[in-house]
Amino acid sequence: MPNLHDATRGRILFGGDYNPEQWPEETWHEDVRLMKDAGVNSVTLGVFSWSKLEPEPGAREFGWLDTLMDLLHDNGIGVVLATPTSSPPPWMGRLHPDTLPVTEDGRTEWWGGRQHFSHSSATYRRYAAAITEDLAARYGGHPALTMWHINNEYCSFDFGDEAAAAFRRWLREKYGALDTLNTAWGTAFWSQGYDSWDGILPPRTPHYLKNPTQVLDFRRFTSDMLLECFAAERDIVRRYTPHLPVTTNFMPLWSGQDAWRWAAEEDVVSVDIYPDPRDPLGAQNGALVQDMTRSQARGPWMLMEQAAGPVNWRGVNHPKPRGLNRLWSLQAVARGADAVCYFQWRQSRQGAEKFHSGMVSHAGEEGRTFQEVKQLGAELARIAPRVTGGRITANIAVLHDWHAWWAAAQDGRPSTRVEYPDVLGAWHRALWEANLTTDFAHPEHDLTPYSVVVVPQLYALTDRAIDNLLAYARDGGTLVCGFLTGVADEDDRVRPGGMDARLRELFGIRTLHEWWPLDAGETVECDGFRGTLWSEEIEAGRPDRTVPYKGGELDGLPAVLRRGRAWYVSTLPEPEALRELLARVAADAGVRPVLDALPAEVEAVRRGELLFLLNHGREPVTVEVPGSHTDLLTGEGHTDRLTLGRYGVAVLAS
Ligand code: GLA
Repeated sequence: MPNLHDATRGRILFGGDYNPEQWPEETWHEDVRLMKDAGVNSVTLGVFSWSKLEPEPGAREFGWLDTLMDLLHDNGIGVVLATPTSSPPPWMGRLHPDTLPVTEDGRTEWWGGRQHFSHSSATYRRYAAAITEDLAARYGGHPALTMWHINNEYCSFDFGDEAAAAFRRWLREKYGALDTLNTAWGTAFWSQGYDSWDGILPPRTPHYLKNPTQVLDFRRFTSDMLLECFAAERDIVRRYTPHLPVTTNFMPLWSGQDAWRWAAEEDVVSVDIYPDPRDPLGAQNGALVQDMTRSQARGPWMLMEQAAGPVNWRGVNHPKPRGLNRLWSLQAVARGADAVCYFQWRQSRQGAEKFHSGMVSHAGEEGRTFQEVKQLGAELARIAPRVTGGRITANIAVLHDWHAWWAAAQDGRPSTRVEYPDVLGAWHRALWEANLTTDFAHPEHDLTPYSVVVVPQLYALTDRAIDNLLAYARDGGTLVCGFLTGVADEDDRVRPGGMDARLRELFGIRTLHEWWPLDAGETVECDGFRGTLWSEEIEAGRPDRTVPYKGGELDGLPAVLRRGRAWYVSTLPEPEALRELLARVAADAGVRPVLDALPAEVEAVRRGELLFLLNHGREPVTVEVPGSHTDLLTGEGHTDRLTLGRYGVAVLAS
């Protein structure tokens, strides 16, 4: 199978979404001049070009794209060619309303925006396959082509009639017999027993709370339908270019797709990352997505999109201060990216995203944004030969599973304040701040490569996943689990005792009497730290050690239990306490931080033989790095220490 290396060939891909159809032809020549000036070696063409390529049903307008493919190739710029299927032309909705998705409350999502396609529509799929086939036939042999980009940020839902029929087919396949479905969905509750497959609907808006297992299956179905759309187009392009990799870009920690499954269907895993420049945890948000994408890719991955400056979809859209674009781009490289790309090349003058930055902003060539992009392009070219293909070794895995997230995110839960991504983020943050390199893994993955496995929260677990965790612990692994883990099975059926009995035994929990979720701003005192968000009334069985709650209703009961190398944390410790806890657990398991005594603002990552140091602060800092090193960015030598300026980065070779 081809991989990212087939497209990079030792370079770091640098460029972005290029939407030349928004510009007159003379601008294309100006674009190419500026691209070369900035060291751009790759652009993604055609993401939103469907109405230009197929202005009326069955018509083909390829001339403009021929010109661009040739122009880019003549100037040494490779093309990641997109299938345009995420934004069908207006004629499709007009002539074929069956291609339009319907929301849970019956509203049609009309054309005039984007992503207005029904994943289940046979008509949509037929048109999508046809344009994909013709693109692949025409450009499969073009020398500019380096990779295929299918659709864009698959993220739609459909509750309409054709989707309902597809949902029933999917359910029949899964359950076989209606009784099995009735049992799995617990339809004895609220008189929901089905006597016919035809009675089953997507979880459309009801009077009151929805059946949670129906919702859970619908999320699985939606992920699978979108994956079918992806795979259909992927298979078409593969027939023409079996030697070229195929990708589709994920949204960061997006709930709509089981990205573990999706990643296994891609040649290259790519993602779009847009932390808020004002967010004090922006760098950690980025690191989390980077770690997750690298883990899905099991090697180098592609940063398909980021913003060179502000986005336009937050309430207040802040620009990136000088140096931040470079810092966050190099952070992605440090954490395994072999491609650093943007949405988009040239900032639009019209349309819904005209106030979203581009590599060339409205200020043009003289603008700070382009000048910084240009500097970054030169630096990436400089370090690429030593960086690309380099691996990152992590001794810690954080477990993450979309199905557990979907099951936990239902209405009717104990606390709507407990949001899965926040809990996942809090635990990753603790590891990130402790400078402990971390992979993500699925709970059924092989965990034996890891010395420590951290489960921030996996509310629903299969028996197989529990077997896997127990085997890992039995074989000497250190396992740290947060609250609301192992509560339900894969049908969202609560396990006897409110938490899986074998897990309770593992941690030394005898009885889990009640959950005590906390209000906003409320904390719970524990011996040595404060807990937030959640607490539990646990009667201990035979733990080796406990840290008790202090005061209040839970006084003296265990907040943290340890039995052997298995830890259970029944609250969310405040950030510093969680960091200290995990740093101690890691140290006990023999896992060291990347560097000792790092200043708080500095992130350190080892990739291959290189050490990346990233200063996320605005003040210069001195970092102790024993030994002699050369900074590949500057060519300067350093012995035992070096100073990083504001948002400064060093890429050290020893
Ligand atoms: C996503 C999309 C792009 C663009 C950007 C804006 O990542 O893929 O087309 O809309 O968001 O941030």
